[in-house]
Amino acid sequence: MHALKPSDAGDKPALYADLARQLAALIEGEKDAVANAANMAALVFHSLPELNWAGFYLMKAGELVLGPFQGKPACIRIAIGKGVCGTAALRRRSMLVEDVHDFPGHIACDEASRSELVVPIINGSHILGVLDLDSPRVARFDAADQSGCERLVALFLAHQRRHPGSLARLVAA
Ligand code: SME
Repeated sequence: MHALKPSDAGDKPALYADLARQLAALIEGEKDAVANAANMAALVFHSLPELNWAGFYLMKAGELVLGPFQGKPACIRIAIGKGVCGTAALRRRSMLVEDVHDFPGHIACDEASRSELVVPIINGSHILGVLDLDSPRVARFDAADQSGCERLVALFLAHQRRHPGSLARLVAA
């Protein structure tokens, strides 16, 4: 069983490099994308400080549907273009929201959430979903968190591409 290692939250590049190593070790021997996404959500949620939610929304028949996550039960379906997640999926770029109260259309799944980071999961020309992190602290996330999480998503994608069909099954309606 994987033992989560305590991380030094003060050095974000080192923290994300360590998380990338842990993620690679966790998913190395498994092709199932749902299982790997579930372990990735748990790794992120339990390794990064000051999070109240971490997980995936996956594209299913044209909308985002709740995927593997850690945190309180969340809203299940998000239309493309709606909320922070739907906006990241529409624009196909990461969204860093310092204060969700200032983001028009933010979808409050957990009213404790005050800042949010959403990274799109893009395979070639296809948007597969998003990785969504929420924090109860305003401005919890910065550019180092964004690039660190983009690196984790890229690692997950590169791994699943080595297993043909696994990404298609992840988003099958
Ligand atoms: N806040 C998100 C919705 C998902 S929850 O945070 C888990 C949004 O505005 O898209």
